Amino acid sequence: MADQAFVTLATNDSYAKGAMVLGQSLRNHKTSKKLVAMIGPHVSDPCRAVLRRIYDEVRLVDVLDSGDTAHLAMLKRPDLGVTFTKLHCWSLTHYSKCVFMDADTLVVSNVDELFDREELSAAPDPGWPDCFNSGVFVFRPSKETHGKLLQYCTEHGSFDGGDQGVLNGFFNDWATKDISKHLPFIYNLGSIAMYTYAPAFKQFGSNAKVVHFLGAMKPWSYTYDTQTNTVRGDVHASSAHPSFLLNWWNTFKQQVLPMMQQEYGDKPFHSGCEAAPAQPPMSSMERKQKWEQGQADYLGVDSFDNIQKKLDAFLK
Ligand code: UDP
Ligand code: GLC
Ligand code: MN
Repeated sequence: MADQAFVTLATNDSYAKGAMVLGQSLRNHKTSKKLVAMIGPHVSDPCRAVLRRIYDEVRLVDVLDSGDTAHLAMLKRPDLGVTFTKLHCWSLTHYSKCVFMDADTLVVSNVDELFDREELSAAPDPGWPDCFNSGVFVFRPSKETHGKLLQYCTEHGSFDGGDQGVLNGFFNDWATKDISKHLPFIYNLGSIAMYTYAPAFKQFGSNAKVVHFLGAMKPWSYTYDTQTNTVRGDVHASSAHPSFLLNWWNTFKQQVLPMMQQEYGDKPFHSGCEAAPAQPPMSSMERKQKWEQGQADYLGVDSFDNIQKKLDAFLK
């Protein structure tokens, strides 16, 4: 339906990469809905161009920041004040119903059935299940609700410093009023659950429809080894299961990266993909030691040709 859309937000190029993978994952699973990316002014031109290739609409919005450092410090996420910007999704009144998805979510199965739900439907937050997690929610754009939400921010602020605190304050009967507004957890699987309730994750994890890489470590915080097709670093530092992380990176490498390479052209950019493990060059002291131990790099830096070149340069 043309008046229904999935909506996400990216205020910078890092989250824009997340939005690219999310949008691509929605396309891969053949959504019939429109795709909208709200972006902030700091998103670079090449990233905007890639987003335009994946999304039907890329819309520039004003960045709102809660500036609430005290609550954000409690959340251990000083960077999340700008998530107030998410509230602008209610201003997309050319759509009658939408599903908001964080830029750090990944669709692993078609989820168009979410549009059968009403505002405000969302899944429980894994940390406090009487609150909903605002990484995935169904809503109805409305000038009136948009205005009321912004007013709520001014009057009450947010108990977590971000949008989730505001939204749970505003839609405060979510926990008790209407069970049909509780989305099953598989629509917003913060796989932190795999640590807190491992048997349930083992039993139900494969039913996941949307994976949410919540927490400070995002998929794009890692590097990806394109030779071995593996994610490098401490994959357990992310709240996500390693196989979900690999799914994100495969989508990025195979489908998003080629578009970025086209749009960036000669300009350098950080892809996070590396072909070989970065080996620090050996110091001349280390080389001397190896040589003395009979471990000269005969075919490489210590080859006869190289030694002769050095001698020639010295004699000149
Ligand atoms: N976001 C953004 N720029 C930022 C921080 C957040 O655009 O600097 C958006 C992005 O869509 C992100 C969402 O706000 O997915 C919520 O932030 P995040 O996912 O980091 O929070 P978490 O789910 O980890 O609590
Ligand atoms: C949460 C949500 C995220 C939200 C943040 C700040 O953990 O996952 O979507 O932006 O809290 O409220
Ligand atoms: Mn998130």
